[in-house]
Amino acid sequence: MDKVIIAIDGFASTGKSTLAKKLSQHLGLPYVDSGALFRGITFWVLKNGWVSDDNLNELAIEKGLDNLNIFFDSVTNILSVNGIDVTEAIRSKEVSAQVSQIAKLSFVRSFLLNQQRQMSLRAGLVMDGRDIGTVVFPNADFKFFFTAKPEVRAQRRLEEMEASGHQANFADVLKNILDRDRIDSQRKISPLKKAADAIEINTSELSLEQAFDLLIAKINTK
Ligand code: DC
Repeated sequence: MDKVIIAIDGFASTGKSTLAKKLSQHLGLPYVDSGALFRGITFWVLKNGWVSDDNLNELAIEKGLDNLNIFFDSVTNILSVNGIDVTEAIRSKEVSAQVSQIAKLSFVRSFLLNQQRQMSLRAGLVMDGRDIGTVVFPNADFKFFFTAKPEVRAQRRLEEMEASGHQANFADVLKNILDRDRIDSQRKISPLKKAADAIEINTSELSLEQAFDLLIAKINTK
């Protein structure tokens, strides 16, 4: 496919990234995980001590962005922040707990918006996130919106975290998912919502293969 843009949005841990990646490989398109970019900025903010539960140093973050270099490699899926590979580190509980607060900031979103659009120019892409079909690429060729039952999502995320060596328990993971859904859906700028022309996919009862086949069928019949 030539310069095609596929936007995959939806709630946390509905399988967006796994399926977006698989789709990109199948169609020969680059893949970009936009959540990884927000996580990368959150990791950098935490590292600089600019966020704690009741305090966010917005001034320092906004100023710091002038010198921040964040790069998602659409082939290896490695995320670098100022040249350092943080692919694993951005999946930590600490980053997950703060990322939705950081993603609410208007200057963080405009910093990444430019970068996200630039990434599509060379060869099109498959990008997953929260506002890809609504704000980043409102004219995307295909738009999907993923949902699934919270308990199913928490179980999947828990298994992913355990597989990559992060300690977690079901109740904490479920709470984090529900907290993020709430903050992401209620924020003023670019909230998580289904684009009017997006196709909704509920992955609660679907295996990876079934969800993938459904996406391909929708693409082929459009
Ligand atoms: O996809 P993820 O769960 O790794 O994303 C982490 C957070 O980043 C998510 O809870 C909200 C934010 N995000 C966003 O605001 N906009 C996007 N396009 C992608 C992610």
